[in-house]
Amino acid sequence: MKLLAWALSALVAVFGMTASTPEQPDAVVIFTGDIRGYLSPCGCSAPMVGGIERMVGVVRQLKQQPHSVYVDVGNWLEGYDRQEQLKAETLAETWRTLKPTYLNVSARDRLLGDGYLESMRGVVGGAIDSANEQSAALPGHSYITAGKVSITGVTSPEADALAETVPGARVVLISGSLESAKRAARIGGPGLYIYSLQGDPAAEPIVEDGATFVTVGDHCRFVGRIELRDGKWTGFKLFELGPEYESDSQAVEAYRGYLRRVTAENLLAQVPKAKGGPSFVGSEACRSCHVKEFETWEKSLHAEAYRTLQITGNDRDPECVGCHVVGLNHESGFTPVQETPSMASVGCESCHGAGSKHLADPYSAYKSEGEKACLTCHNPGHSPKFSFAEYWEKIKH
Ligand code: HEC
Ligand code: HEC
Ligand code: HEC
Ligand code: HEC
Repeated sequence: MKLLAWALSALVAVFGMTASTPEQPDAVVIFTGDIRGYLSPCGCSAPMVGGIERMVGVVRQLKQQPHSVYVDVGNWLEGYDRQEQLKAETLAETWRTLKPTYLNVSARDRLLGDGYLESMRGVVGGAIDSANEQSAALPGHSYITAGKVSITGVTSPEADALAETVPGARVVLISGSLESAKRAARIGGPGLYIYSLQGDPAAEPIVEDGATFVTVGDHCRFVGRIELRDGKWTGFKLFELGPEYESDSQAVEAYRGYLRRVTAENLLAQVPKAKGGPSFVGSEACRSCHVKEFETWEKSLHAEAYRTLQITGNDRDPECVGCHVVGLNHESGFTPVQETPSMASVGCESCHGAGSKHLADPYSAYKSEGEKACLTCHNPGHSPKFSFAEYWEKIKH
């Protein structure tokens, strides 16, 4: 029965159905965090999970419930180069359509610079802040209230702001670990503490001394939701962003725009290239002498790897292309597709290494590194089910 009620409330929440709920909660907190630059689904292995397109879709549905607030814990990006700046602008663009109540700025987000934070502030509906900085300049204004909750963002638990008396139930956003959230709770007292985590989130909240601790983990794979009823935090649910969730059309447009800009600015051409050593020659050059091996390879998914990126639209995205082509990081390797078709996709030399020396002298040593070669691409983040024995069986030659 209890399970049924849970499932029902999830349905109501996600699809905005107006089934008769006995009474409305006092507040619903919807939260994300630690996106860390993962705007597209990750895993590289079906079913791929996450991405801002689904994330926005789920948040938008959940927000239809009365008394809901949407907050983000921070840690938006992984680095600060041009591509990350484009991501920051894309996140701002998608958040503009969601109107978050509070975006917490983590210490690393602040490295983006004032210009970017200012532009975020310009497009976001609610507050974008961090109590640490504000409490010095504007004592007493380090939280905002939204209905029956007050929301504070902190980057370190020592923030004096937490000791202040705030109206309503306390929601604290911490771009730090569970341990720092617990330290914050020792100052702040009872409330909801949403913390930052690199890894998979716990399925249940942690409750200690009247404080409730929750997280969504990293890489934009989950959206979290919890509600306040009679002073208690309850009804916690994590939505894992699998393919069953529809993409939000505005977020799809924003992500497409991002890829268009990555292409237009030709970031792929700016990937550093090594010089020297044997050169890449392309798979086609191996065909005449290794007819059988070539046939096997041609039928494998490796030969489709670049087309896969063309389908998703990431074929000019430096974050993807390296593992889906031959020799991106060498001057003789892949350059955008028209010029080097026989290096588009994972080819012979992706595993055997650059082939110019072997071509000049087929009897000189030219060994595959076996499993070690696979692991440069089939790493846990991009091929979670990889096992050499099983995978080799599918492509052996
Ligand atoms: C001109 C013909 C020719 C071309 C072109 C050629 N190979 Fe070979 N390859 C050979 C011959 C002959 C051998 C066998 C050498 C031996 O038995 O030691 C060989 C052996 C190999 C081996 C096994 C090496 C070993 O030590 O066991 C690999 C791997 C290989 N080739 C890969 C490639 C790849 C990849 C390409 C394209 C970049 C390629 N070959 C192009 C003729 C060629
Ligand atoms: C340069 C990067 C790279 C290397 C090195 C690499 N792979 Fe792959 N592999 C890929 C990519 C990318 C795909 C996905 C291709 C697609 O679906 O478009 C893939 C797909 C596969 C698949 C198909 C998976 C399926 O479900 O059918 C197998 C099997 C596989 N790789 C085995 C191997 C093995 C074994 C090695 C080492 C001997 C290896 N790969 C080395 C990038 C790589
Ligand atoms: C570290 C190397 C690496 C990077 C970086 C990488 N991929 Fe992959 N990708 C792989 C491998 C390996 C596979 C095959 C995984 C498997 O079958 O186990 C794959 C498979 C895929 C697939 C096929 C999934 C399926 O099963 O249908 C897609 C789509 C894909 N990648 C898209 C991307 C996109 C988009 C990016 C950039 C955001 C990206 N990849 C970055 C290594 C990589
Ligand atoms: C996904 C990685 C991968 C790709 C792509 C790949 N190979 Fe291999 N290849 C291997 C591995 C691993 C071995 C086995 C090495 C061993 O047994 O030590 C091998 C073995 C070979 C051998 C030696 C076979 C023997 O029996 O001695 C030749 C020749 C060869 N590959 C040629 C090619 C050619 C040509 C292509 C492209 C058409 C190609 N390979 C594509 C990984 C790859």
